Amino acid sequence: MPSHEAGWAHADGALKGPAWLREPVDTNRLVPGLWSRTAHKTHGDLHVGGLAVADLVAQHNTPAYVLDEDDFRSRARAFRDAFAAYDVFYAGKAFLCTTVARWVAEEGLHLDVCSPGELSVALTAGFDPARIGYHGNNKSHPELRRAVVAGVGRIIVDSFTEIERLAQITAEPREARAAAAATRVLVRVTAGVEAHTHEYIATAHEDQKFGFSITSGDAFEAVRRVLAAPGLELLGLHSHIGSQIFDSSGFEVAARRVLALHARVSDELGVELPEMDLGGGFGIAYTTQDDPSDPEQLATEMTKIVEHECRALGIEQPRLSIEPGRAIVGPAMCTVYTVGTVKEVALDGGARRSYVSVDGGMSDNIRTALYDADYSCTLASRHSEAAPVLTRVVGKHCEAGDIVVKDEFLPGDVRPGDLLAVPGTGAYCRSMASNYNHALRPPVIAVRDGVASVLLRRETEDDLLATDVGMR
Ligand code: LLP
Repeated sequence: MPSHEAGWAHADGALKGPAWLREPVDTNRLVPGLWSRTAHKTHGDLHVGGLAVADLVAQHNTPAYVLDEDDFRSRARAFRDAFAAYDVFYAGKAFLCTTVARWVAEEGLHLDVCSPGELSVALTAGFDPARIGYHGNNKSHPELRRAVVAGVGRIIVDSFTEIERLAQITAEPREARAAAAATRVLVRVTAGVEAHTHEYIATAHEDQKFGFSITSGDAFEAVRRVLAAPGLELLGLHSHIGSQIFDSSGFEVAARRVLALHARVSDELGVELPEMDLGGGFGIAYTTQDDPSDPEQLATEMTKIVEHECRALGIEQPRLSIEPGRAIVGPAMCTVYTVGTVKEVALDGGARRSYVSVDGGMSDNIRTALYDADYSCTLASRHSEAAPVLTRVVGKHCEAGDIVVKDEFLPGDVRPGDLLAVPGTGAYCRSMASNYNHALRPPVIAVRDGVASVLLRRETEDDLLATDVGMR
């Protein structure tokens, strides 16, 4: 359980921030690198997509997620162009709705889904199933059957049980499953890499639920079983080492181990696997602590790693694919809240902390509570000359861990009715949002060239009560 009352708060009686947080010269300025590309301030008012956030709020209320369409599209294009020799799958788990699925298709990317719900959104959007990759560590028989029947382009298998299920499904007479071609499969492997990220978002070390272990021999056995199933076509191996990663050394170790297995398959089974997927996980800047690489740098580094390893192993380079989610949608969205109350709290040792409560919280952004994630925020609705005060932005849920932004310098005169905006909330905020305390999940409003479009509407109390069908 991460401690939210960090030790530094009590160090010498004065409330400083964490070491990385610098007191800004001007709290009215946006911290560079955290915001979507069209975001800027004019006289203290935040604008995104050619619209003043205050005007958006007048129409749509708060809390609201504001999605900068140009930013999303340009990041998608940047990955597509930098990784032109690869297939780029947008990881829909970061954020997906039908419009975003269409943008992904229009920008020439493929789509990674990991649940029946995500598949449904993609198919409803008219996304070409042949360009969909289907993930998950516990895909049921009906789920797999649906993916096969829909003609999903690749299914990433994660257990022997799934391989068996798929072998059964694809052994059914073709008319019964209405499938035209062999079902293409990748085997998800665990490369044994400890990615330097939060434990719950690191996925390639051995002691966790995903993938087949390379070390134990399970991965090789999975390859053998897929190859033995007549209805399955093995495309290659898949490795995803974790999320919010900045350092390419994890990818390097993973690529080396996965390619070694690739070479073993070629030597011992005589099969050249045509593809390899290195997953997603590319980090973004939530605060000034983070210094992400751009897609070009990533592509250069990853290509160099794979070329080097293939040369060393004396094998042909497989076609590569990647699955960025956060790095495309994360910076494209911000969340706008209205301040409800402001409270000064005396801490042990005499320091005081300013608590600013907003009208959302852990139901629209669970990442602070769940991963101890850091965020930044700004006053979005006016200019202020007040001196910066170290502030904690909290939600309105009935829980002390309901924190949105642990530490930020905000002007000392923040008051009820002000708008606050938190950047970098595009990935894993709306997609992990809940109805905790029967909160209504906020809308996602796309903005572009001065036009706002509601992509997901705000939930209503009727939505909540619609599922409450018990004993009337
Ligand atoms: N591919 C696979 C197989 C994945 O499991 C994931 C993320 C991705 C791609 C996309 O990763 P990205 O590029 O978005 O980092 N809820 C956590 C992150 C969990 C990620 C799960 N898998 C968070 O809020 O940080």
